[in-house]
Amino acid sequence: MTELDLRREIIAHCLRMNAAGINQGVSGNISVRFGERMLITPTSIPYDRLLPEDIASMSLAGNDGAFEGPKPPSSEWRFHLDIMRSRPEVGAIVHTHPTYCTSLAIARRSIPACHYMIAIFGGDDVRCADYATYGTEQLSANVLKALEDRSACLLANHGAIATGYDLANAFWRAVELETIARQYFNALLIGGPVLLTAEEMKDTFAKGLGSNYAGQRAR
Ligand code: 13P
Repeated sequence: MTELDLRREIIAHCLRMNAAGINQGVSGNISVRFGERMLITPTSIPYDRLLPEDIASMSLAGNDGAFEGPKPPSSEWRFHLDIMRSRPEVGAIVHTHPTYCTSLAIARRSIPACHYMIAIFGGDDVRCADYATYGTEQLSANVLKALEDRSACLLANHGAIATGYDLANAFWRAVELETIARQYFNALLIGGPVLLTAEEMKDTFAKGLGSNYAGQRAR
């Protein structure tokens, strides 16, 4: 894909994440790896007004928030950059504020093995990262910890992050994550879930579903 293709793809997925009901307003952001750089949505611009040239470009080697483009990058550029840097298998990141993920994250709950599809996130749970103010290095550090051996996490009192080898893969995980969060939330309401055992999850992994982490091609 050319850089222009990727910029267009980012905008298309911003619109899709709101249409899919996993985000609202401009509360989410998306980044895609492009060689030694990262393309990332600009901060606070309604997605239906975004033009390809508005997508900010940042060096993966940078630390000071320097960017190229007419508009400043997402206020969450720090964790996007740190994930890309520390996880070479990640090609794209989708950050949203989905209702059920965020409800669980407000209750500071991780998502356990309530459904075998949890395997697509790399293990038998999706952790909730500790709270820190949005856009900070501390939030980024908490996110990296929660993402260890995982391709997604919740963010306490904030939202969710899903990663993938490309944008379609990360977007797929973002939708699956909110789906499982909704199912888990509903099970909590009707008496509590019966969780899968470690043995049952092992059988799921043995079939090849999510045997690894974000790098897997499990579409
Ligand atoms: P941006 O508009 O700066 O991307 O911020 C939205 C957000 O998700 C903050 O957590």
